[in-house]
Amino acid sequence: MGQDTQAPLSFDEGRALEIIGGLAHLEGAMLPILHALQDAFGHIDARMVPLVASALNVSRADAHGAVSFYHDFRDAPAGRHVLRICRAESCQSMGCERLVEHLRHTHRLTPGETTADGALTLENVYCLGQCALSPAALVDGEPVGRLDEKRLDALLGQLKGARA
Ligand code: FES
Repeated sequence: MGQDTQAPLSFDEGRALEIIGGLAHLEGAMLPILHALQDAFGHIDARMVPLVASALNVSRADAHGAVSFYHDFRDAPAGRHVLRICRAESCQSMGCERLVEHLRHTHRLTPGETTADGALTLENVYCLGQCALSPAALVDGEPVGRLDEKRLDALLGQLKGARA
């Protein structure tokens, strides 16, 4: 099982501008900047969007669109653990939707949301390159495959144990 996700920094405009300024010269700088901001802060705070837009001379709508289009970016801090479940074709054909329903009904976990205690975030991902192990997921960045309800329950039990 992986480590807890890194604690995000709170928003710091100076640090955000430093990161943006260091990458703005790149061709196609939007994605590298967003990745660097998320690495530093744990998510893309709404206050970062105008800073990115201004540095790249694009509209706020364009910058916001990039954040919402790519599933890699989150607009709120993640929980201490992150479960990313693959919902692309191969995993769909092997039953990932059933697993998502199981998470929703049995564990009250909905993709895109974090538990009230801040312990766990569930996110969708679209192909992890682990199709041979469908249905697959990432738990704190570590791939897990051939999931079924029982394995998911066990994984969540381990994460709960690690929360203490
Ligand atoms: S479709 Fe899920 S890992 Fe490729």
